[in-house]
Amino acid sequence: MSDRVPVLTIDGPSGAGKGTVSRLLAKRLGWHFLDSGAIYRALAWAVQSRGVPVDDEEAVTRIATEMVLEFKFGNGVQVWVDGKDVTDHLYTEECGRVASRLATFPKVRRALLAKQRSFRRPPGLVADGRDMGTVVFPDAPYKVYLDASPEERARRRFLQLKSQGLDVNLDQIIKDLEQRDRRDRERKEAPLIPAEDAVIIDSSELSVEEVTKKILALLPGDMAAPSGAVEPR
Ligand code: C5P
Repeated sequence: MSDRVPVLTIDGPSGAGKGTVSRLLAKRLGWHFLDSGAIYRALAWAVQSRGVPVDDEEAVTRIATEMVLEFKFGNGVQVWVDGKDVTDHLYTEECGRVASRLATFPKVRRALLAKQRSFRRPPGLVADGRDMGTVVFPDAPYKVYLDASPEERARRRFLQLKSQGLDVNLDQIIKDLEQRDRRDRERKEAPLIPAEDAVIIDSSELSVEEVTKKILALLPGDMAAPSGAVEPR
């Protein structure tokens, strides 16, 4: 049944604009939204807060299986782990770095599959990540791979962190992005690559609105028509 629920997958490297565009699309379509990166980040938080070594695949897999993860939608999205709101801890560079290390473990990725697939509910799902179109929802009818040049991705990340009042260094951000890209692309399990049937869009020279329009144009007209839609669920 759930495989008849339409899914729009949006994969690509860090900083390509997936998060902003996916949220906007979910809102316009009135569909549910899966931020799969937040799941890996929540796991990173859980592992660190329990003092488990990040290279212990068995222990990390156990936490991935046991942790109670909830997304609460209201004014924005809150991520709760084991009854605690951890949202404010997830979007740091450190948490992203640890998440990308844990994401290389095959057993961990498999332990998180069912959780991600449970987001596929009517009327539809926009799924943002690295392996949404290749592994998690290979039968999704709409697949996008959103890319941008490394310079542009680093610049966006720099501006985003600066706007949060953080003391950031562009060279360090470029190094971090390169390292995360390499890890995501070279891992054996579910590496970051476009699905064969994905439409590749380079957002380097495009605004959020332009990317959103291009993606909506891939959907049947009646789906893409503004629905006066609600917050992503
Ligand atoms: O997208 P975000 O930067 O929040 O993801 C954090 C990390 O989680 C990524 O660098 C990537 O290594 C990992 N990830 C993944 N597969 C996904 C989503 C995220 O491996 N579907």
